[in-house]
Parts: sequence; C-alpha cells; structure tokens
Amino acid sequence: MTAPLRVALLGCGTVGSAVLRLLDEQADDLAARIGRPVEVAGVAVRRPDRHPEVPAHLLTTDAQALVTRDDVDLVVEVIGGIEPARTLMLAAFAAGKSVVSANKALLADDGVALHAAAAEAGVDLYYEAAVAGAIPMLRPLRESLAGDQLRRVVGIVNGTTNYILSRMAETGAGFAEALAEATDLGYAEADPTADVDGFDAAAKAAILASLAFHTAVTASDVYREGISAVTALDVARAAEIGCTVKLLAICERVANGAGDSVAVRVHPAMIPTTHPLAAVGGSFNAVFVEAEAAGELMFYGRGAGGEPTASAVLGDLVAVARNRVAGVAGPGITTYAELPARPIAETPTRYHVSLDVADKPGVLATVAQEFARQGVSIATVRQDGHGDAATLVIVTHSAPDAALSATITALREMPAVRGVTSVLRVEGLS
Ligand code: HSE
Repeated sequence: MTAPLRVALLGCGTVGSAVLRLLDEQADDLAARIGRPVEVAGVAVRRPDRHPEVPAHLLTTDAQALVTRDDVDLVVEVIGGIEPARTLMLAAFAAGKSVVSANKALLADDGVALHAAAAEAGVDLYYEAAVAGAIPMLRPLRESLAGDQLRRVVGIVNGTTNYILSRMAETGAGFAEALAEATDLGYAEADPTADVDGFDAAAKAAILASLAFHTAVTASDVYREGISAVTALDVARAAEIGCTVKLLAICERVANGAGDSVAVRVHPAMIPTTHPLAAVGGSFNAVFVEAEAAGELMFYGRGAGGEPTASAVLGDLVAVARNRVAGVAGPGITTYAELPARPIAETPTRYHVSLDVADKPGVLATVAQEFARQGVSIATVRQDGHGDAATLVIVTHSAPDAALSATITALREMPAVRGVTSVLRVEGLS
C-alpha cells in the first residue's frame, strides 16, 4: 500500500457524521478495496463548537481553502443547497480533485456545467446519494443501462410524502392529520415545504430524466404538484377502483409527429394496487424503469437517513478513489439526444373525477357532452344515487392534460354539477 488518499468533507450533519464514522469503522476494508488507505484531511463546518465528535485538528470553517489544499485528493460535499456548494465544487475541480456529492438541488440546476468542469479537469463527479438515498439508481442508469433505450422511469423518490400518503390510506386521515403525525415522528421537517410541495422530488426527477434520456433536464423543466391538496376522499375513491395514491416522479419519452420529446412531471396519482410501486409503503423509496431490451426493472430501498445516504456516498467514494488509483476518470453524462421538454399541457394523462350532480334526466348526457367537447374519451362511469342527488365517478382515457383540466374547469361551472369533489390523475391502469 502506498500513501493514503486524503478526503475533505464539506458539511458534518446527519449524513456527514455517518460518513465520518463509516470511514473510520471500515478503514481496513476500504483500503483493501481501493488499493490505498483513505484518510480524512479536514472537515469544513460553519460552527466547529457544535462538532465535539470530530477531532479538533480536522475542523475548519474555511471550506474554500480546504478543497484546494495540496494534501487533499477527493472532496465529499454534503452541505446541500446551491451556494456555496457550487463554488466549492468548481474550485475542487479546478484544483484537480474528484467530488462526491449528495446535492440534488445543485445537480438538478446545474448538472451539465458541473460535469463539463469535471471533464475539463479530468476528474470525477459522482452523486448517487442525491436521488433515492441508499438505492443504487444513478450508476445503473449511467452505466448498466447505457446500452439500452429507456422509455419511462417512474419513482417514489420522497419518503416524507410517501409516509404521509401511506398513513392516509391506512387510517383514513386527512392530509393535515397525517402531516402532523409525520412531523411528530420526525419523518417530516419543521418546514415540510420542499417535500410536501414536490420540490425535492422534482429535483430528483430532473436528475433521473437527464441520465435516462441523455438530455439536459433541469428542475425548471419539471411540472410539479405536491400532495397538500390530496384529500381523504381522493384516497377512498382510489381504493374503490383498486388503486392507491402515490406522489410519482414520472420521466417519459413521448413520441410525437416531429420527433420524440421528454415529459417530466411530479404529482400525486392513483396507481393500481397490483403495480410494484403500490407496495412501497411508509418512508421507503423505489424507482420503476421500463427499457426496450431490459423490460421492467424495480429498485427499492431507503431513500433518506444518515447511514443509508452515507452508504451511497461511500460507494461513490470507493469508485472515485479507485479511478484516482488507476489514474483515470469514470464516465460523465451524455446529453447528445437533446430531446425537447414536453409541457404538461401536451403530455397525455388520465383523470379520475368525482362529481356531485342532480339525479335527473339529461344530467349524465350533459356531463358526458362536456368531456366530448374537449376531445376527452370516457373509459368508465359509475353512478351512486341518493335521493334527488347522485355521485358520478368518471375515469377517462388518456388525453392531453390541458384538455382534461379544461374539462374540469367547465364541469365546475355547469349548473347540473353541484360540486367536483375529487380530481386525481391515474397512472398504470389498463
Ligand atoms: N427529504 C427527503 C425525503 C430525503 O423525505 O425523502 C432527502 O432527499
């Protein structure tokens, strides 16, 4: 064995401290797997007094100086957010260091430029931990499936919202009650906006879509709806048709006349309980892939937490360390396909709609007429009568999302419709 490879750790929160502990506990195995020992050169934090577990001589508040130090070979970035992470990463590349990151927001925003900077410097940028925590997902897309054509990648990539929706299904609770429980148990953060409103899932969807379709996709290309408007009635309606409600990150290649495009969206949807993703309960994550040659694949596991996320970080660290020992850089990303982003309005979706209507002749015909007027074909209609009122439950065939949402707007204004009580997209229903 030769001289140690020296690692700069940026950030020492839940994930960073798990990385430090595993680096120490597994030092001998890691050295044997890499061919050289790995040593921590320094840990950059904002408040050194808050990290009594880290040897004092390793702590620094000067992250910029740490990433460019001559005795640092590799950088692990687990501070998150756009700045200063972006500047630090670029400084590390310019100084010839490979970077392992867990930063989904930064990679979703600026992945292409960061990869270009890494390639220019001849170093690696790996970020398995940025999407679905411990689940090996990005390396399979970037490497194992690089010889295949991907059609669709559908993920449950946010554990907080999956926990909330799972509890709503199990207990019949509304969103607010399930969120309060998730907060009490530590599954939801004090400010749950990033999770509940789908920002976290949208960043992950952009990263998945970029790798799956060899196209630059950023978070701003992703259509996003969160789960705060999902009601107990939506969940009950889903159960009536053998479905469950999940927050899905859907990345798909859509054929159109002029050529293919990429549609990326995050929204709650009903999926059949027979779909593999329906069995993903609690705070677990999973990603379902449909490829031309491979067929259907499913990746499942823990999407968050210190140790599961540290496992992905260490896997990347071993990969970039091996590359460093071999004197090579690993694969970057390719964006040669340059598929245009398809707006949600033009993306084909299906809706499940519940309406309260007057139960009298002609109402069903008037409602059906409105769907027809918008060019939306109805797949099934169920009516539950009660007195002079009735509930209509309609599932559509697939249509451009704009036509479906225009239909809902029109239904809300029809005198025969007393209320549109539930509207949710449906995925995976035959
Ligand atoms: N907050 C995320 C989740 C984990 O709830 O899954 C980190 O991306």
